[in-house]
Formats: sequence, C-alpha cells, structure tokens
Amino acid sequence: MKKVTAFIGTQSRKATYFAVQEFERNLKQLGDIDFEYVFLSDYRLEFCRGCKLCFNKGEELCPLKDDRDVLLEKMENSDGIILASPNYVFHVSARMKNLIDRLAFLCHRPRFFGKACTAVVTQGNMGGGAIAKYLCTSAGHIGFHSSKGCWAQTLDPMTERQRRTLEQRVRKAAARFYRELTRPTPPPSFFRLLIFRMTRTSLKYVDHDFRDYQYYKDKGWFESDYYHPTSLGPVKKLAGRLFDVAARQAARRMQA
Ligand SMILES: Cc1cc2nc3c(=O)[nH]c(=O)nc-3n(C[C@H](O)[C@H](O)[C@H](O)COP(=O)(O)O)c2cc1C
Repeated sequence: MKKVTAFIGTQSRKATYFAVQEFERNLKQLGDIDFEYVFLSDYRLEFCRGCKLCFNKGEELCPLKDDRDVLLEKMENSDGIILASPNYVFHVSARMKNLIDRLAFLCHRPRFFGKACTAVVTQGNMGGGAIAKYLCTSAGHIGFHSSKGCWAQTLDPMTERQRRTLEQRVRKAAARFYRELTRPTPPPSFFRLLIFRMTRTSLKYVDHDFRDYQYYKDKGWFESDYYHPTSLGPVKKLAGRLFDVAARQAARRMQA
C-alpha cells in the first residue's frame, strides 16, 4: 500500500477539493492507496520572517512555534504528495506559497528522496500550467521526483463541459502520478546534478559551522555522486566531474 497526502491551499472545499477527490478516485482504481487530505487552513502556519536562522543555523531554531513540523512529518510519512491550489492572480494561493516558503530551508538540505509529487491547479481562466510547473519544481528542490500535474477551468458552478475536461485531465494526471509513485527513484536530470555538484563544492569554501556544510558532511555528500545512491551512467559521470571543476573555479574566483 502507498500512502499519498494531498496538501490543499484553499479552504473553500469547492473546485480544488473536487479535483483532488477526483484524483483520489482515479488513483484508487490503479492501486492500493491510503489517501489523506490536508487542508492548510486547518493548521497554524505563520508567515516567514526572513531571519534565515533555519538556513544558517538550523530549522529547529525557527522563532515561529506553529504547525510547520506537523506538516513536515506528514510529508515524511508519505510515499507521494499532491500539491493542490487554486490560481490566485497567476500564482498559487498565499497559503500554499507560505507552506513552500516555510520549507525553504529544505532547498538547502533536501530530504524527500524516493518520494513522488504532482500538482493540481484550478482556475477561472488561465495561467494554471505555469503554476502546476512551479509547484513540481519547488517540490523537486526539496527532493521529490515529480510527474506533470494538471490544471483546469472551473467556473462556479462548473459547466458540464468543464466538468468533463477536468475529469479527463485529472484521470491522465493520476495515471502519470501512479507510475511515478511506483517506479524506482529516477536518476537526476543534468540540471539537478549541476545544482548538487555546484552547491557541495561551494560549501567547501564557507565557514564549516554553517549548517549546510555539516549536513552535507554527515550525509557523505562531499564524496558521493549525488544526494542518493543512483546510477549516473558515463555521460552524467563525466558531466558531474566537469561541474565539480567549474564550481571549484567559480568558488576560488569569489574568494580572490
Ligand atoms: C483572490 C482570487 C484570485 C484569483 N485569481 C485568478 C487568476 O489570476 N486567474 C484565474 O484564472 N483565476 C483566478 N481566480 C479564480 C480561481 O482560481 C478559481 O475560481 C478556482 O477554481 C477556485 O478554487 P476553489 O473553488 O477551490 O477555491 C481567483 C480567485 C480568487 C478568489
């Protein structure tokens, strides 16, 4: 059985909720799934103050004492997550953005490897494709591997045609997500490999008390090919070495 958690960035329990319920229905036709709904409006999540204590010293030093770690634990206990949001002025809702901001330290110290992610976006008119992509990219920065999400127009009330289009898109997205959820963790893209190699090399040149440095050291990431065991293949192995050299030169230039 796979555990899937949907994080929903609206409290309206209308279009986005309907799309996620449709997603759940389709997913359960494909396999044995334990599905949980997490409405962000049911949790206390303060706005990030931008102090960067989480980046530099550690997330446990965040001055905001709220439900951040409850939500983090829900991600940790899932095999896959769905990030669902309405389109609010060409972006995710403020609730969803706040969740992403509060987890920004994980972009420095990613941890959700081997877990799948996708996005569900509803909207009145347009812009949902870019929002779904943004959600998947953000999840990728903290370790998830993602499948292409879906988006659909949903007037209130929804027309019959809109309902059919939404159901069709959600069905396809659920099938893509199920494949992602059940396949072995894929090797990194060149872009992700580049980020890993550049970051770890630049960390060698910072204060070793810096939290990221310790994290990389404890994980053995200064010696490994990538964040998690993977087969890079000869071309990516070579690319990785070139990225190391380029990052070293860039770090030395910065120091000079
Ligand atoms: C504050 C706000 C901003 C919105 N901005 C956009 C927008 O820029 N583009 C768009 O297509 N729809 C926009 N919408 C419409 C919603 O995305 C759409 O109605 C969505 O399906 C609502 O989801 P919900 O019923 O789950 O809350 C906006 C709605 C609200 C309330």
